[in-house]
Amino acid sequence: MSNTNEIQLGGQFTFPGTSLTVKRMGYGAMQLAGPGVFGPPKDPAGAVAVLREALASGVNHIDTSDFYGPHVTNQIIKQALHPYPEELVLVTKLGARRPEDGSWQLANSPQQLIDGVHDNLRNLGLEALDIVNYRAMGGGAGHGPAEGSIGEQVSVLADLKQQGLIRHIGVSNATATQVAEAQAITDIVCVQNQYNLVQRDDDALVDDLAKQGIAYVPFFPLGGFSPLQSSSLSAIAEQLGATPMQVALAWLLHRSPNILLIPGTSSVGHLRENLAAAQLTLSPETLADLDKIAASEAKQ
Ligand SMILES: NC(=O)c1ccc[n+]([C@@H]2O[C@H](COP(=O)([O-])OP(=O)(O)OC[C@H]3O[C@@H](n4cnc5c(N)ncnc54)[C@H](OP(=O)(O)O)[C@@H]3O)[C@@H](O)[C@H]2O)c1
Repeated sequence: MSNTNEIQLGGQFTFPGTSLTVKRMGYGAMQLAGPGVFGPPKDPAGAVAVLREALASGVNHIDTSDFYGPHVTNQIIKQALHPYPEELVLVTKLGARRPEDGSWQLANSPQQLIDGVHDNLRNLGLEALDIVNYRAMGGGAGHGPAEGSIGEQVSVLADLKQQGLIRHIGVSNATATQVAEAQAITDIVCVQNQYNLVQRDDDALVDDLAKQGIAYVPFFPLGGFSPLQSSSLSAIAEQLGATPMQVALAWLLHRSPNILLIPGTSSVGHLRENLAAAQLTLSPETLADLDKIAASEAKQ
C-alpha cells in the first residue's frame, strides 16, 4: 500500500473557501483509545503503527477529538506523527467531556469550548487547529441530532477563529436547521453526522451540502461499534471479490462527491482493507442493489 496515490484514495476534495485539500479516503482516530474510547489503548505501539501506516499510504485527513481517551488519542497522534507533514489536515471536535467514571457529558459552555481548543492545541502540539467541529450532543441515548440553537457555541468558535487559534469551522451531529444557523454566523466547511449504507436520515442534507461544495463526513461509516451486517451486503461483496466493509465504504464514495471518509480502526490489517476500498468501482446495478438494503432495513 505504500505507493497508494490520490486516485486510489478516492480523488481529492478542497474544503470550501480554504486552501485545505484532502484525499477523500481519510482515517478516524477514535478507535485508538482504550476500550469504550476511554483510557490508554491495550497496544500503544500498535496504535502508533496504524497512524504511521495511514500516512505512508497517502492519507492526509485524520479526524480526532481531545475527549477520546480523554487526551489519549491526540497524544498518540502527536507521538506518532509530529512534526506533521504540511499536507496533513487534522480535524477535531468540541462539545463533550469524559469524567473519571467514563461517561459522556456535555461541555458546551463558552469557557469549556475555549478550554477544549487549548487542550487540543497542547495535546496535538499545534499553534492553530485546521478544522474544529462543534459537536452538538443531540437528544436521547442514540447518536442522532436534536433541534435547538447552537448559535452561542458556534459564535464562540467564530471568535476563536478571529483570534487565529482555529482556521476553519464545521458542525457535527447537527440538523439541517442547525447547519443553516451556523452558516449565518460563520463559514461552515464540513458537517460530520452519522450516515452509512443503512442509516440514511441525512440523504437530503448530503445533497444540499454537495450543491454548496461543503464536505459531508459520515461518522460510523461502517456502522460504528457494531459494524454493519447484512446478508445482501455480504453477497454483493462476495460477487465483487471484496469484503462487506469495503463495499460499504465504496458505496459512500459513490454516493456523493462531497463525502469524505474517516473509517476508524485500531488494526493495520483493517486499515489496509479500508483504504483499498477506494479502488472498488460499483456498477449502477450494484448501487441499486445496495440502495435496497437501506430500504429493507427501514421497513423493519
Ligand atoms: N462526530 C461524532 O459524534 C463522532 C461519533 C463517532 C465517531 N466519530 C468519528 O468517526 C470515525 C469513524 O467512526 P467509528 O470509528 O466510530 O466507526 P466505524 O468507522 O463505522 O467503525 C469502526 C469499527 O469497525 C471496525 N472495523 C474497522 N475496519 C474494519 C474492517 N475492515 N473489517 C471489520 N471491522 C472493521 C473497528 O474495529 P477494529 O478496530 O477492530 O478494526 C471498529 O469497531 C471515528 O474514528 C471518529 O473519528 C465521530
